[in-house]
Amino acid sequence: MVSAFIDHRLDGVIRVISIINRSSLQPLYCVYCSAKQVCKTVHTDVQIHSDHFRFPYGASDVICKGEHMQNATHVLITTNEKGSADLKMEYLPIKNKVVQETFKFNFTICISNLFGDYNNVLQFAQTMEMYKLLGVQHVVVYKTSCGPDLEKLLKHYETEGMLEIVSWPIDKFLNPSRGWNIKLHKGDIQYYGQLVTLNECIYRHMYQSKYVLLNDIDEIIMPYKHAKLPPLMEDLQSAHPNIGVFLIENHIFPKTQFEESGKFKRAEWKNIPGVNIMEHIYREPPRKNIYNPTKMIVNPRKVQQTSVHSTLKDFGGSFHVPFNVCRIVHVRVPLQGRLTKEQLSVDKRVWDFEQELIQNIDQTLKLSGFL
Ligand SMILES: *[C@@H]1O[C@H](CO)[C@@H](O)[C@H](O)[C@H]1NC(C)=O
Ligand SMILES: *[C@@H]1O[C@H](CO)[C@@H](O)[C@H](O)[C@H]1NC(C)=O
Ligand SMILES: *[C@@H]1O[C@H](CO)[C@@H](O)[C@H](O)[C@H]1NC(C)=O
Repeated sequence: MVSAFIDHRLDGVIRVISIINRSSLQPLYCVYCSAKQVCKTVHTDVQIHSDHFRFPYGASDVICKGEHMQNATHVLITTNEKGSADLKMEYLPIKNKVVQETFKFNFTICISNLFGDYNNVLQFAQTMEMYKLLGVQHVVVYKTSCGPDLEKLLKHYETEGMLEIVSWPIDKFLNPSRGWNIKLHKGDIQYYGQLVTLNECIYRHMYQSKYVLLNDIDEIIMPYKHAKLPPLMEDLQSAHPNIGVFLIENHIFPKTQFEESGKFKRAEWKNIPGVNIMEHIYREPPRKNIYNPTKMIVNPRKVQQTSVHSTLKDFGGSFHVPFNVCRIVHVRVPLQGRLTKEQLSVDKRVWDFEQELIQNIDQTLKLSGFL
C-alpha cells in the first residue's frame, strides 16, 4: 500500500495505490474506518496497470466500494476476508476528501525517482531556475537516495519552498531495477517504481495543482512559441478544451558536444559537480522509424492511470503538441553518439533566458553554500 485517495470522478470510491506481485494474485479486502473507529470491510476490485515492463511487481489500484466512504478517514488492504487486520499493518490516511476548484499551484513538476549516488548539482540547479522562469511554482522529487552535494542543494530548495521531497524507500521492501529493460537491469520492479510514483504524484496534486508535468530530473519541458508555460497552456487548452493530456516530444542534446565560443564555461561553475546545460546546444535529429518518446503535461483531474510516455486511462483524450510549439530539452549522454556536430541541429532556446538564468543560478549556488 502506498497512498489512499477518494476518487470523486468514480462516485467517491477509495483508490489505494499499491504495488502487487503480478503472479501472486489473491482476493483483497479493504478495511475502512471513520474517525470514531467504526470500521467496515468490503471486497475490492484490483486493477494491475497494463504497463509493468514485464517486471514481477506492478503499479496497481485497489478500488474499495462501500457505504459511507465519505466519512472514512483511514484504510488498509488485507487478504483476510474477516477484515481483522494484521496488527502490524498500518492504516493509510485517506486524502483528496474534498473537491477543490481552485489550486495552490498552476504548474507542478513530478520528478520520479532519485536514487543511487546521483550528484548532478549544476544541471539540477540550472533546471530548477529555468523552471522558475517558465512559471513553475512547485517541484516534487521522490527520493530513495542521492549524492552528498545534491543532498545539500535539495535541502536548500526545500527550505526555500519550491521543492517537496517525498521519501521513497522502495529498496527497503523490494529489489528495484535501475532501468526499464528487465533483461539489462534485473529486479522486482521497473526503475525504482517510477510508474507508482508518477501515479501517486498525480493523485497527490489532483486538487493542489492546475497542471502537473511528468518528466525526469534532466529534462526541461520548454515552450518555443510562448515565453512561458502559462500562455502556452492557455493557447493549447482553448484550442483543445476537453483534452487533459498533452504529449511533449523528447529531444536529446548530447552532453558530449560543446558549443564553440566557450562563453558559458564560467569560472564560478568550475568546481560545481554536474553538467552545464548551457554549453550543450546541439540537438540530435529524430531517428527514422524510431518513435520519439514523449513526456506529459496533464490536468490531473482528467487522469485515472498513467505510464511514463502516455496515460493508460484518462477522461478526455490526449493531444500531441507539435515540435515547434513545445519540446523537451534533454541534456544527457547521446543516443546517436556517432553523429558529428554538423549532423546535429543548433538549438539555443535556453540561451534566451541567459541573463536572468545565470543571475538566479549564481544566487542559488551562493545561498546553498556552493559559491
Ligand atoms: C511473486 O509470487 C510468486 C507466486 O507466489 C512467487 O513464486 C514469486 O517468488 C514472487 N516474486 C517475487 C519477486 O517476490
Ligand atoms: C457516515 O455518516 C453518515 C451520515 O452522513 C452516518 O449515517 C453513518 O453512520 C456514518 N458511517 C460511518 C461508518 O461512520
Ligand atoms: C495561476 O494563474 C492565475 C491566472 O492564470 C493567476 O491569477 C494565479 O496567481 C496563478 N497562481 C500562482 C500560484 O501562480
